[in-house]
Amino acid sequence: MMSSECKFYSCNSQAMSFHPSGYCFQCYQTDPKISKNAKKNQLKVLDLFSGFGGFSEAFVLNRDEVLRIENNPLLSEVKHTVLMDVRKLRDIIAEGLAEGNLNPYLLNIDLIVASPPCYDFSLAFSAPQGIVARKGKEAFENYEPDMELFYVTLEIIEMLKPRYYIIENVRGSIRHCEKIGLKPRQKFQAYVLYGNFPMFKPPKLELKAKKGNRIQHGNPLRANYRAIIPLELSESIRLAIVEQKTIFDFNGVEEE
Ligand SMILES: C[S@@+](CC[C@H](N)C(=O)[O-])C[C@H]1O[C@@H](n2cnc3c(N)ncnc32)[C@H](O)[C@@H]1O
Repeated sequence: MMSSECKFYSCNSQAMSFHPSGYCFQCYQTDPKISKNAKKNQLKVLDLFSGFGGFSEAFVLNRDEVLRIENNPLLSEVKHTVLMDVRKLRDIIAEGLAEGNLNPYLLNIDLIVASPPCYDFSLAFSAPQGIVARKGKEAFENYEPDMELFYVTLEIIEMLKPRYYIIENVRGSIRHCEKIGLKPRQKFQAYVLYGNFPMFKPPKLELKAKKGNRIQHGNPLRANYRAIIPLELSESIRLAIVEQKTIFDFNGVEEE
């Protein structure tokens, strides 16, 4: 993919490769000429910890306006991705709000989806919580995962006030999220979804473990492949948002 430099005055950082403005993410915020240019009926989606972009893929395919934030340079070529730490995005938003020049990209967001890394919450054999689980009840109860990226996500949601938001994680996150006031809104298979969103009928999905088996050990993106949110799930969420106008439109069945 060709990368070009930002066309804003003398800025020489990398332009957002997917965006017609030719600006980098920061200059897009600064240019007074940029106005709200979303097309009619287009949803505006912010995908945090976007990885390969699975969570927001159905929105991209439906030509919605999607911005993905990811900090792994190996994933910079994933469409719609801005390579940035989510903590930096939090700071940019706070500054933009304080100075009254918030990036127009971040105004009037319909949906924020976020998949903070699940390593600390996983109950898998070699994950930290899986290890303490085998050490006994007390060790398990005293285990404290790093919640920072959850807090940062909640700060962003609080500042941007999207119409809907969904934070995805694994079952091992539930007892820790409850301590910070987050209760699962929907859970099925390995997926736990927190937030405020129209509930939907869970799609039939391939098991997570099976999905990862195809990726070779030693591949630096193995964990990212395993973490991809399936297109069917992204589609179900989009459909629920687009089609459910009232509670009576919901015909889903919640799985435990
Ligand atoms: C669970 S995966 C996301 C999977 C993604 N939803 C998908 O469908 O492909 C978490 C991602 O968060 C990224 N990440 C971790 N810490 C981050 C940070 N501080 N800022 C931005 N991205 C981060 C990781 O590189 C990883 O790709």
